Amino acid sequence: MTISTPTTIMVLNGPNLNLLGSREPDTYGALTLSEIEHMTTDHATRLGIDISFRQNNHEGTLVDWIQEAGDNTAGIVLNAGAYTHTSIAIRDAIAAIKTPVIEVHLSNIFAREGFRHHSYISDVSAGVICGFGATGYVLAIDAIASMLRVK
Ligand code: DQA
Repeated sequence: MTISTPTTIMVLNGPNLNLLGSREPDTYGALTLSEIEHMTTDHATRLGIDISFRQNNHEGTLVDWIQEAGDNTAGIVLNAGAYTHTSIAIRDAIAAIKTPVIEVHLSNIFAREGFRHHSYISDVSAGVICGFGATGYVLAIDAIASMLRVK
């Protein structure tokens, strides 16, 4: 089933995710961020959803984008990278908006170093998907799409 009204989901990627493909492929997989973007966009298009897919290494830019998405989108898929484990500013930005946020990680952060087990954003997010590699982005789109259908 496709969504009838035009709908945009913002997919936000934080620091070092521009290096995917060459960055620790055993942990993060072989796909580049651009390949993940295509995968995500193709899937969303089939559901009638537009994607605004972005990456930035700077915390404040991610905060700006979350604020922008809060008024203009049906949801946010957020891989905040290492800011997941450090950023109260990103947490506060999520808490300030009504649009649902799905936290995504390529790797299973709970099977890794202890400092990755705590996320500042999980409890202000609608849900968390981690450990499924790039498929997690597609699952997050499906999660937001199903939330739109039950509205
Ligand atoms: C990550 C996990 C984080 O701990 C790490 O800092 C990243 C990527 C992931 O997608 O698995 O940069 O968010």
